[in-house]
Amino acid sequence: MTQDSTIKVIPIAGSLGAEVCGVDLRTMDNHAWAQVHQAFLDHKVIAVRDQDLSPQDMMDIGARFGEPNHYPFVKGIDGFPFLFDVVKEPSETKNFGGGWHSDTTYMKTPPMATLLYAIETPEKGGDTLYCDTAAAYEALSERMKELLGSLKGVNSAGLKHLGGRKSHHATVGGMAITGTDDADSYEAVHPIVRSIEETGQKSIYCSRGHTIRFEGMTEDESRPLIEWLQAHVTRPEFTCRVRWRPGTITIWDNRRTQHNAVNDYQGMRRHMRRLTSGPTHPV
Ligand SMILES: [Fe+2]
Repeated sequence: MTQDSTIKVIPIAGSLGAEVCGVDLRTMDNHAWAQVHQAFLDHKVIAVRDQDLSPQDMMDIGARFGEPNHYPFVKGIDGFPFLFDVVKEPSETKNFGGGWHSDTTYMKTPPMATLLYAIETPEKGGDTLYCDTAAAYEALSERMKELLGSLKGVNSAGLKHLGGRKSHHATVGGMAITGTDDADSYEAVHPIVRSIEETGQKSIYCSRGHTIRFEGMTEDESRPLIEWLQAHVTRPEFTCRVRWRPGTITIWDNRRTQHNAVNDYQGMRRHMRRLTSGPTHPV
C-alpha cells in the first residue's frame, strides 16, 4: 500500500494484479499519475475503481502510454476511431476476448498497454483472468531460457484454432465487427522472449491465441512447445482475476501478461470500452 496521499494500491494476488482506489484519473496531477504508473510497473495489471470517463478522458489516459494503437477488426465509436465497445447481449452465447492471449501480437508494433473500462457489468461473472508471463519466464530452467531466447514467434490474426476469425467474430453479434476477410494477412514475427525496458525483466511472448509457429519451424513442430508454454504461463500461481463493476478501468501491460475473458454470464449484458496504447517494438 502506498504511504502517500489518498491513493491506495492493494495487491489482489501473489504474482500480479492490484486494485487502485482513491484517484480520479480525469483530474489527477503528475504526482498522482506517477503513483498510478508505478503501480502499473509493479503489478502489471491495475484495476482502478470508481471512475467516470468520457471517450476523450479515455484517450487522454491512454496518451500517457504513447500513441493509440489501431485495432483492425472492430469499428471505433463515433468520433473516436481508436476506441471500441466490447458488448455481449443477453441473447448471445459467445464472447469477445475469450482464450488466453496478449493483445494484437500479430501487429508490427503491438501495444504496451490495454485500457478496458466497464460501463455495464453482469450481476455475477464476466471477470477477466490475467497471467504473469515475466514471473513464468523467471521460473524456467536456465537451459529452457536459453532455448527460448533463440526463437522467434510468427503471430497471426487468423484465429485458426477457433475456426478462423471471420466465423468466430460472426458469432459476437453485439459488436461492430469489420475487416475480418483478410485477417490471415495480419502476421508479425516477434521474439519469444522479450525484454521490458523499465524493469529489466524478460517475459514469455507467446500465446496459443496468436502464435502459430516458431520462425524456421513448421506448425506441427512448433505446437507442442507453444502448448507447453501456454500451460506454464497460466499456472495458478502466475494468475489473478479482476472482478468488474461499472466505473472500473483496468490497465494491463501487454508485454508481460496475457488475459482471458471468462464467458460465464449467459443471459446477462456486459458492455466494456477498450483502447490499446503505446506501440512497441518487441526485442
Ligand atoms: Fe484481448
